[in-house]
Amino acid sequence: MITIIGSINLDLIARVERLPAPGETVPGTDFSTAPGGKGANQALAARRAGASVRMIGAVGADSFAGQALNLLDKAGVDLTQVKKTAAPTGTAMILVGGDGENVIAVIPGANAEVSAPDVASAGLGRGDFVLLQHEISLTAVEAALKTARAAGAVSLLNTAPFHADAARFLAMADYVIANETEFDLYVTRLALAGENREERMRAFAGRTGRVIVVTLGGDGVMAATPEQFFHVPAFPITPVDTVGAGDTFCGYLAAGLSEGLALEPALRLAAVAGALACLKPGAQPAIPLRAEVDAVLPKAG
Ligand code: RIB
Repeated sequence: MITIIGSINLDLIARVERLPAPGETVPGTDFSTAPGGKGANQALAARRAGASVRMIGAVGADSFAGQALNLLDKAGVDLTQVKKTAAPTGTAMILVGGDGENVIAVIPGANAEVSAPDVASAGLGRGDFVLLQHEISLTAVEAALKTARAAGAVSLLNTAPFHADAARFLAMADYVIANETEFDLYVTRLALAGENREERMRAFAGRTGRVIVVTLGGDGVMAATPEQFFHVPAFPITPVDTVGAGDTFCGYLAAGLSEGLALEPALRLAAVAGALACLKPGAQPAIPLRAEVDAVLPKAG
């Protein structure tokens, strides 16, 4: 069982030929809505990878809530611990440019109501997996990491979006998953020594005894444990929309590890899934099924 404690949003998505500069107006070509939120996206990815998944989070008592939870519900994610609050369902305003790149502004709404007592009621046990991100309050994230450690659960923390204050608890997670920008921003705060990113990742793993995973977009993914270092190349694709690719990677990585894969094959599985998620528009609608990932995996080397 994988427990995801995190955000649930409705994504309001505009496609534009190119992303505007500050103060600039550009014409859009298409508007759509889709379920999103880093927590919910990762929950759906883990479920589509084949894991049993439950979601702990919050939505509003509004019309967006049903849309935001629709794909999780259809996929069979346990939603019994998603609470309804007076605050509105979280939303994300997303612009996707012609090259597949994006900019996102998130309005947390109900996600800000996820709190330490919600984590306590999760009833985490030995051997459970818990997957967290930074789109709910950092206090709740920190409480979840403490609870997971006390219970003997395996914790994975995705450091998106970047929050400097999270530096204080990164080392409480068994697996830290950052993109290259996030990792580089934590380097100074954590005083990680080294001439390059690999050395700094090794410094983190050596000091903390944890695993650090850094995603590099088109350059693949690197991971350091206290004893080993891996570099898994990217599966080559031409991206249509990169929204949710990192979330797909995290959900698949958690699923791979929870089914007993060693770190390197779990990274390969997750890297292919993340690449395939860039081939369709939207975050959750683009998350591939396990059969689609397995079909491509042998070609990924
Ligand atoms: O990581 C992508 C997600 O970030 C989107 O689905 C959006 O909701 C924001 O949370």
